[in-house]
Amino acid sequence: MKILGIETSCDETALAIIEVENQDEPSFKTLGTVIHSQIEEHKPFGGVMPILAKREHARNLVPLLNSLLEKTDLKREEAVEISSEQKTKITEILARENDLVGVFLQFISTVSKPDIDMLAVTSGPGLEPALWVGISFAKALSYVWNIPLMPTNHMEGHIVSVLKEGQNLRNFAFPAVALLISGGHTELVLVKNWGEYELIGQTRDDAVGEAFDKVARLLGLPYPGGPEISRLAKIAREENLTSGEIKLPRPMLHTKDFDFSFAGLKTAVLYLTEDLKKENKLDDNTRKIIAREFEDAATEVLFKKTKLALEQFGASTIIIGGGVIANATIRNKFAELEKENITVLIPEMSATTDNALMIAIAGYMKSRRILPVICPDIKAEGNLRLS
Ligand code: KG4
Ligand code: ZN
Repeated sequence: MKILGIETSCDETALAIIEVENQDEPSFKTLGTVIHSQIEEHKPFGGVMPILAKREHARNLVPLLNSLLEKTDLKREEAVEISSEQKTKITEILARENDLVGVFLQFISTVSKPDIDMLAVTSGPGLEPALWVGISFAKALSYVWNIPLMPTNHMEGHIVSVLKEGQNLRNFAFPAVALLISGGHTELVLVKNWGEYELIGQTRDDAVGEAFDKVARLLGLPYPGGPEISRLAKIAREENLTSGEIKLPRPMLHTKDFDFSFAGLKTAVLYLTEDLKKENKLDDNTRKIIAREFEDAATEVLFKKTKLALEQFGASTIIIGGGVIANATIRNKFAELEKENITVLIPEMSATTDNALMIAIAGYMKSRRILPVICPDIKAEGNLRLS
């Protein structure tokens, strides 16, 4: 069974095709992936602009699908007659995405249905204008190619991003605790089974990735700030720069719940940098020290709360997903849990940030519970929750 995954929830336009073998003891193989990151387009604005994201997704989806089909040898180039009734219906499905209609019609009139059995698209959470582009595109494909389409939760995608090619997808040690850390989310989820999730904790204000991005801005670093903070913190460690007076808070470290708070940490950096600027002391070394101290503070609270959750729910597997797990300090800290007989599942670097491979896998997992249909009525849900 071949599945095409489509992801447009934020600033990556991504497509991937997987093949799932043996439905009784299933495992997947990646046939191909394509991704276009919009970081360069959003950089001048210091963050993701939803309207710009929407325009870029609409511009890139068709060329990306074309190159993915070529790459996977699934492209069947031939003239296809599109009836006026079909044209009307496609225009209706793509009504929100005017720029996409012409190029879509041109594409499907020259490429016939590929050997794909199911489509999976992110329906939320994310930026709604961005989500709609992927949803409309997926629905139009589902309609012309008569392929069932599965709406998929982006956060479930981050959970399954730790699954590896060839691994038996049925044998998994539940319950597991999932820590989802990205630019928009910081959540602790109890994973009782595939599709059975319970949100046990979350941030009360900023997401951890958002805090990385905001602190980076305070230090005069470009967007996205996470990798920049990481880079400076690494230098601080290598150069053995001591923090001296610079100490940041560890918000909610000792509370007995599983919630987080990162806004206070960011505000602490704001006051600190303002004071240092007044005294003309915000030099390069001080920036490196702040980056390192911030990284340590964030790591400490993420680690402590996750460990508490593992203990309280008797879980011996931790799954970590989302862009922030690209951070080496956080990866290394969680890897320490292996010594305590905890299975630590962290995605490969390419699977940490948003991608469509995780959407194709999540779509497959969901299809074991719910049957997908042709051209379903899907709505973008910016705040879609795991359930
Ligand atoms: O999952 P993701 O690609 O997109 C969302 O769904 O939000 O996560 C993006 C976030 C950004 O906030 C970015 O700064 C952060 O992940 N990030 C990092 C690192 N690389 C990316 N944060 C800390 N350290 C990193 N190395
Ligand atoms: Zn994400």
